[in-house]
Amino acid sequence: MDKIVINGGTRLKGQVKISGAKNAALPIMAATLLASGNFEIHNVPDLRDVKTMAHLLRIIGAQVDFANNSLRIDTCKCNFYEAPYELVKTMRASIYVLAPLLARFLEAKVSLPGGCALGSRPVDLHLKGLEKLGAKIHLKKGYIFASAKRLTGASISFAISSVGATGNILMAAVLAQGRTVIENASYEPEITALAEFLVKMGANIEGIGTGRLTIRGVDHLNPVEYTVIPDRIETGTYLMAAAITGGEVELTDTDPKIVTSLVSKLRDCDVLIEEADSKIYCKAPNQIKPVGITTAPYPGFPTDLQAQWMTLMCVANGSSIITDTIFVDRFTHVAELRRLGAEIKRDKSSAVVAGTDNLNGAPVMSTDLRAGASLVLAGLKAQGRTDVLRVYHIDRGYEKIEEKLKLLGADIWREEGEL
Ligand code: EPZ
Repeated sequence: MDKIVINGGTRLKGQVKISGAKNAALPIMAATLLASGNFEIHNVPDLRDVKTMAHLLRIIGAQVDFANNSLRIDTCKCNFYEAPYELVKTMRASIYVLAPLLARFLEAKVSLPGGCALGSRPVDLHLKGLEKLGAKIHLKKGYIFASAKRLTGASISFAISSVGATGNILMAAVLAQGRTVIENASYEPEITALAEFLVKMGANIEGIGTGRLTIRGVDHLNPVEYTVIPDRIETGTYLMAAAITGGEVELTDTDPKIVTSLVSKLRDCDVLIEEADSKIYCKAPNQIKPVGITTAPYPGFPTDLQAQWMTLMCVANGSSIITDTIFVDRFTHVAELRRLGAEIKRDKSSAVVAGTDNLNGAPVMSTDLRAGASLVLAGLKAQGRTDVLRVYHIDRGYEKIEEKLKLLGADIWREEGEL
């Protein structure tokens, strides 16, 4: 397995192009199963997870070609309604094919996603929602077996805001007979993008961008051409890379409107941020002010930026408290950051970070894709050499991360790793 090696201490300078959003591209790829024909999807990030979803669509019978960040997907010959464990265990987002398979074939057999570093990752909200729409669901030998005579509209209210469950129920409702109302729907930009993609295919959805979606089922949908939105988590990660290294960076091909909670917190740290259309300019202050965060569903502070924020707070001039209300155990990066000299104390779903100005390089291990990114940020700042192992986690969510950072002046490279 590869590792990324960093000699820290360089202030990042220059311009970096943000890639398309992984968490929009994945449900949109699954949604192509809802119609027969040829899709073209642009600005798709070249990531491990995208390749995994493409592999899953091919198992289902689609023809998928991926080149130059564009996907051509032909769903005419889809004839298999199973998502096997061997594949689902590598990517939880495979669950997104459950509803489209059920809507198209009235049958679906999808492996239960296992747990991961973030916790148990249940799918009860997905299954309860599909049952409300008329599906019969039973679990056997680690698989979800779903079937329906037909899907009919219903009122569904989620006890907690769930990105994945909102996406799955949305994809089932667009072809269900009658009206579906989803209360407490997630309205992360990636779900908004999925809804807009479905409308372009011919779906009837009202309330897009809000927590209440009303869907009127249609008889069929059509293949379309579509361009994926920028990745707000990659955007946030590079803004924090500039901030932690004392650098000055301009991000292009992004969207300031979908990172407002992070930008507001960075400004509280005295980071200078200027926005214009699809660009964000970021200039670090001499000292990072300590600012606590509590993660929340959109438009709150994203849990996917919590680990990166913790790294930034490790070098702030004071203490801060970081709380994750979405994944209360999402702190596997704490032990790794401590190896670099960070002073962090865990307290249930929070961590108290005492800023220090002497992080020192060491070998560290990625445990999930965002924790891996937080370790790369730490390596950019730490004195000396940091080896970030198990980089396959990072490759799931960051396109060409070491190339983009090298273009900004970082002393960073990838090596064949032994572990
Ligand atoms: C999506 O995961 C993202 N993944 C995650 O990003 C992100 O961290 C998460 O949303 C929260 O924003 C993709 O979009 C592919 P949830 P998802 O359902 O849909 C609980 C990354 O870094 N829950 O919104 O799985 C759940 O345990 C990844 O790219 C249930 O209890 O997250 C969690 O506490 C990591 N039952 C909360 O809801 C369910 O049926 C929010 O989870 C579903 C979820």
